[in-house]
Amino acid sequence: MELYERIPNNVNLSEDKRLQRALEKWLPNYLDWWREMGPEGFQEKDVWLRTAVSVEPDGWAQFDYVKMPDYRWGIFLKPAEPDARVAFGDNMGLPAYQEVPGEFRNALRRIVVTQADTEPASVEQQRRLGQTCPSLYDLRNLFQVNVEEGRHLWAMVYLLHGYFGRDGRDEADALLERRSGNPDKPRILEAFNQPCDDWLNFFCFTMFTDRDGKYQLSALAESGFEPLARTCQFMLTEEAHHLFVGETGVGRIVRRTAQLTKEHDDVRRVEGIPFDIIQRYINYWFSYSLDLFGGEISSNAADFFAAGLKGRYQERKKYDEHVLASDVFRLTVVEDGRLVEREVPVRNALNEVLRGEYVRDCERALERWNKYIADEGVDYELRLPSTRFHRHVGEYAGHTFDVDGQLITPEEFERCRDEWLPTTEDREYVRSIMRPVTEPGKIANWIAPPAVGIKGKPFEFEYVRL
Ligand SMILES: [Fe+2]
Ligand SMILES: [Fe+2]
Repeated sequence: MELYERIPNNVNLSEDKRLQRALEKWLPNYLDWWREMGPEGFQEKDVWLRTAVSVEPDGWAQFDYVKMPDYRWGIFLKPAEPDARVAFGDNMGLPAYQEVPGEFRNALRRIVVTQADTEPASVEQQRRLGQTCPSLYDLRNLFQVNVEEGRHLWAMVYLLHGYFGRDGRDEADALLERRSGNPDKPRILEAFNQPCDDWLNFFCFTMFTDRDGKYQLSALAESGFEPLARTCQFMLTEEAHHLFVGETGVGRIVRRTAQLTKEHDDVRRVEGIPFDIIQRYINYWFSYSLDLFGGEISSNAADFFAAGLKGRYQERKKYDEHVLASDVFRLTVVEDGRLVEREVPVRNALNEVLRGEYVRDCERALERWNKYIADEGVDYELRLPSTRFHRHVGEYAGHTFDVDGQLITPEEFERCRDEWLPTTEDREYVRSIMRPVTEPGKIANWIAPPAVGIKGKPFEFEYVRL
């Protein structure tokens, strides 16, 4: 473990001078990007953050006050398994790849770059949120997510520099040049160009969009390309907290709205967030996040599985059969203006298989939120829209569906748009009630306090010293 170098790492960077020099050259550019596009304000404040300082169970989450620019962004891979093997596909049982297989070089680079691009993009999307934090606890969680997305960028840039030669280096530079939402040099995926300028957006983003990241990383954590698998396995340990922030964040808003609903016909009077606005935000982020899994029918997905590069969610743990040479998958597609069932080879439907795991995970969260509402004795139910609703990628793109997944005309969709998706007024209202609450122990009226603090500290703890 090389913890006290400029770039903390467990990849023996000091023995690979060429790579070390390349990354040390990238480091000041990264810091420039952080200063320009990282959280606005607060850069000189002490934030109670966890830092990964080793990959051992007790070492990867050390808590202390840190100023964000001094955060130790490191390169950590889960330790290698002896005798690792490709666990699925046509090459199952062969030794795991230690280098990029030549014929998949471009495709794999594309996967790494696309994943990498989401990490700085989310920091950019969230950069102004600190100004309107509902509590110091939430402010600290925002910054925790931000610095870890920065570390995920490091993890991916290590792969680009270490395994993809000159193209990889160019891609690593370009990652610091694109900007979320910038029409001239946008981030690669659409969900990462959407504004995330209020805290309901932030919690929905970390609930739904970061959760896509969890499933993508999980599929790559099974990869036969070992450096990628080990990188993703370690990233997943950090990602779990981001999902926690999102799921409990929306859950706390839902709970608070339920409480306020009991005393007020219109929760807007006391600066609460009405259920119908929450529902529209859910519809919006869920549908954009579904697009991130890619087309329902995909020959790329089939090729990647065949080559042992991208598996299913928990491929080793959950499944007994890892070749999938002749299995089929039934899915619903649009043909001649009607919904029909079609059978495709399951290898071609692996994006949809992964999306299905994701949807079940989201349903679990919705059940929990609905339980909060029921616990308050309020009669309201939040729901996920159909996976066909409001899609821009795959089989359902270019068609219009209602929230139940029924085909409707574009005119009908437009007529109902304001009922289903956030309106300008919704967004303006939500922004209007977001005023910073930064006194320890205090919290904005539109959200309930968390059940517990972070790492045994109470909610009243001074998570950020202002
Ligand atoms: Fe990430
Ligand atoms: Fe994340």
